[in-house]
Amino acid sequence: MSELLRFDDVYKSFGDERVLEGVSFGMGRTDVEVVVGPSGSGKSTLLRCVNRLTEIDDGDIYLDGDSVHAMDVDALRRRVGMVFQGVNLFAHRTALGNVTLGLRQVRGMSKSEAREVAEANLERVGLADQADSYPAELSGGQKQRVGIARALAMEPELLLFDEPTSALDPELIGEVLGVMQDLAADGMTMLVVTHEMGFARSVADTLTFLDDGRVVERGPPERLFERPDEERTDQFLGRLDA
Ligand SMILES: Nc1ncnc2c1ncn2[C@@H]1O[C@H](COP(=O)(O)OP(=O)(O)OP(=O)(O)O)[C@@H](O)[C@H]1O
Ligand SMILES: [Mg+2]
Repeated sequence: MSELLRFDDVYKSFGDERVLEGVSFGMGRTDVEVVVGPSGSGKSTLLRCVNRLTEIDDGDIYLDGDSVHAMDVDALRRRVGMVFQGVNLFAHRTALGNVTLGLRQVRGMSKSEAREVAEANLERVGLADQADSYPAELSGGQKQRVGIARALAMEPELLLFDEPTSALDPELIGEVLGVMQDLAADGMTMLVVTHEMGFARSVADTLTFLDDGRVVERGPPERLFERPDEERTDQFLGRLDA
């Protein structure tokens, strides 16, 4: 299987603080990779470097074999979608309007074409009947799902998720994870930062434990949970999985 994303000895510091210290790993197309690690270990920074919301200091990141630093940033961001913890929807636009905006402005679609694509993607996240609702009328889980639909509508090759459920009430987490699970089953390539260990165990192909900006251990989730090589992995996953 061809590699879609590769981190090659990536370094990043903020001032004196070294946040990523030589991160290297790759993901194949259709892979789902979950990254876990303590607060401040560099997980968000790692994701942000992929679509160049953060620029790295050293090393390189390749998307389908090409350095992201050689790409036009807008072109890169059309290929790599991102869903954050609390997605920002435009309050004065409906769910449908939030999804069509990028299709109109970035993809240059006609109004009717954008509407069709947006409706299909809202349906994909289970929100076909909320297309005309405004963000204030949606639950946190529904808002996150609109954010996913918005990212999906751009037909990204890779989706980055940074703790997409961590701001949600417990009863709403499952609906968002369910959508992500469906996307994984449909073959979407996903790099996901989450503390949801049930999702990691059942959906991830690979689990990466990041600590102090370094990959401590990486492998199939069941191996990291059952037979980790590193004591530190055992301690960390044991705590999350309790
Ligand atoms: N733009 C920035 N400017 C300065 N320091 C930053 C910046 N972004 C991140 N950092 C620092 O880099 C370190 C890693 O941050 P990062 O957000 O990547 O961690 P994280 O693993 O995502 O943590 P959390 O689990 O709390 O989200 C932290 O010490 C953070 O304060
Ligand atoms: Mg973070």
